[in-house]
Amino acid sequence: MIGRLNHVAIAVRDIAKASEVYRKTLGAEVSAPVPQTAHGVTTVFITLPNTKIELLEPLGADSPIAKFLERNAEGGIHHVCYEVDDIRAARDRLKAQGARVLGDGEPKIGAHGKPVLFLHPKDFCGTLVELEQA
Ligand code: CO
Repeated sequence: MIGRLNHVAIAVRDIAKASEVYRKTLGAEVSAPVPQTAHGVTTVFITLPNTKIELLEPLGADSPIAKFLERNAEGGIHHVCYEVDDIRAARDRLKAQGARVLGDGEPKIGAHGKPVLFLHPKDFCGTLVELEQA
């Protein structure tokens, strides 16, 4: 059911510093930071030949990544995003198998302008999974 790895998201405290690590040290193509007010994060996209890396920095008082950074002071991998052809069909199939979909279960428009859903890490090997409609 799942298709390509769309991106790996890494939560960081300082997105400017993290961007420099990817740009200078690793020699990657790094976008400018984009505040995503609706999602409580500032994002930077790093384009690799076969996938993307998404850097996330908390934005605002109740950012969804604030707790993660409390537990992971140095930052770390926050979620992986897999592409699916039909996000509602994927959700229904996963729910039928007992997987927990976060929030109200309805796809939201994500940072890439496409419908996304998040799946509970306890059901997926301890990893927060984002599904994005390709
Ligand atoms: Co993501």
